[in-house]
Amino acid sequence: KHKVIIDCDPGIDDALALLLAAGLPDLDLLAVTTVAGNRPADITAINARRILDLAGRHDVPVHAGAARPLGHADARCNLVHGEDGLGGVVLPQSGQVAPEHSALRLVQLLAEHPPGTVELVATGPLTNLALCEALAPGSLARARHVLVMGGALRVPGNITPAAEFNFYSDPVSAQMVLDAGANLLLFPLDVTSQAVMHPEWIAAFGAADNACGRAAGEMLAAYAELDPLLHDACPVAWLADPELFSGQRCHAAVDWRDGPTAGHVRAWFGERDDAPGPANMQALLAVRNDELLALVAAAIARLP
Ligand code: BDR
Ligand code: CA
Repeated sequence: KHKVIIDCDPGIDDALALLLAAGLPDLDLLAVTTVAGNRPADITAINARRILDLAGRHDVPVHAGAARPLGHADARCNLVHGEDGLGGVVLPQSGQVAPEHSALRLVQLLAEHPPGTVELVATGPLTNLALCEALAPGSLARARHVLVMGGALRVPGNITPAAEFNFYSDPVSAQMVLDAGANLLLFPLDVTSQAVMHPEWIAAFGAADNACGRAAGEMLAAYAELDPLLHDACPVAWLADPELFSGQRCHAAVDWRDGPTAGHVRAWFGERDDAPGPANMQALLAVRNDELLALVAAAIARLP
């Protein structure tokens, strides 16, 4: 079984990623850490708790994390997921958010487990991961992989013409994670823009005979009109079936300065010899979407 930590900002597609992780039999979810992103930090923590409670995963602790990014004063939130981050779908919360800060818990978990044994998935702004690395340098390199949804390499951004939302929200942290010497797998918009949720696929959740399936359908109903892409489920799906994806190694760097290109990623794939450094990631660039959708639907169907 893969031991997995998910750092996220639910967020509807983050919620789908959590449901996918809960429904995959070969994943052992150690903890979920949350960060300000789609919504402020207190809301993303409660949302993660609610999703795991719905999935019957009261055993998985949820930790609240960074409320602000590192390079600027205010969190850059976004309203595509609704005021509450879950598209107005009311979910009961039975458990509590754990008291330790996400960044401290990441430090502890990565130190406690032997190097190369924990998969760290990040589907929000990278503030907690950067704090973890700043507190205990070398932490991120202890993960088996650090799987990050973020960035846009050869395609336009989705929050500005130059940048994808997670990297735009905290470009300084994104660059710190790129610099951490981790075994980094990046799932940029290049690949997630192929992960399109078809209307029929969403509609099928409406007829689901489990609460998690019906909640997924309700959350997606309005959201998919604004963003029909299954961004955050991609790195979790990779853990279950890496063969669905293909990619290429590259050196990448983030524009972490304020300005019109903040959060932009420049990637060198070896086509030129002026890369400022050696490869620092594997960028995933293509996915077999029909199989991805089938994997996600099957995993959610296994839940309560
Ligand atoms: C990313 O931004 C958020 O809105 C989604 O949850 C996803 O993590 C896509 O750019
Ligand atoms: Ca997210």
